[in-house]
Amino acid sequence: MNGGSSIKVLGLVGSPKVDGNTSKLVNAVLEGAAEKGAETVVYNLASLDIKGCNACGRCRENGCCVIDDDMQKIYREINSADVVVLGSPVYMWQMTAQTKLLIDRMTAFLRPDFSSRLDNKKLILVFTQGISDRDAFKPYFDYTEGLLYYLGFDVLNTIVAAGTDKLEVEFRPHLLEKAKNIGKFVSGSHLQGLEYRRAESSLTPSL
Ligand SMILES: Cc1cc2nc3c(=O)[nH]c(=O)nc-3n(C[C@H](O)[C@H](O)[C@H](O)COP(=O)(O)O)c2cc1C
Repeated sequence: MNGGSSIKVLGLVGSPKVDGNTSKLVNAVLEGAAEKGAETVVYNLASLDIKGCNACGRCRENGCCVIDDDMQKIYREINSADVVVLGSPVYMWQMTAQTKLLIDRMTAFLRPDFSSRLDNKKLILVFTQGISDRDAFKPYFDYTEGLLYYLGFDVLNTIVAAGTDKLEVEFRPHLLEKAKNIGKFVSGSHLQGLEYRRAESSLTPSL
């Protein structure tokens, strides 16, 4: 918990479109969380000044990055959040460059022995993609989950919106409802990892 009475849910949107598919899904999760009393805040990464990691290695000792840009605010937000909702469209089979800048700077969460300074912070991953085959990038989504685990996040769920080139997220009430329900569920649950996944999947018809 972040110290206050309610939990804090942080949304990070890695699309240059501030009100696009990814933003709508991330915000739906936040909306559900807010309905359950969570404090929510969302940032569009493309609107922030986040530079690339300069590989100085100084963060490894004390966890502080020396680059004085908007990532300093995002470090504070991640540290004080109970749940992070990280969204990216697929660009060229991968996350966007804006999202990758954030991920590279998260190297500051790793100690000299590469253990994480984050204490299994909960994370919901959101991907949107133009093509309809929702399994097309599954290996990449699984790989990204693994990377986030390595960084110290407890990845509870990955929401995928496939086929947005044909039907945008705003015209998919069921998908938005599902994202909202995940937000409600995560903000009311103290479960972690597999237990969370099991509990959530048992609610699948309503999610
Ligand atoms: C530069 C660029 C590259 C893209 N590459 C892919 C891709 O490799 N596979 C895919 O399915 N969709 C691709 N798309 C489509 C986006 O993933 C899709 O439209 C997504 O829903 C956009 O999300 P947004 O509205 O949040 O920006 C690409 C779009 C752009 C602009």
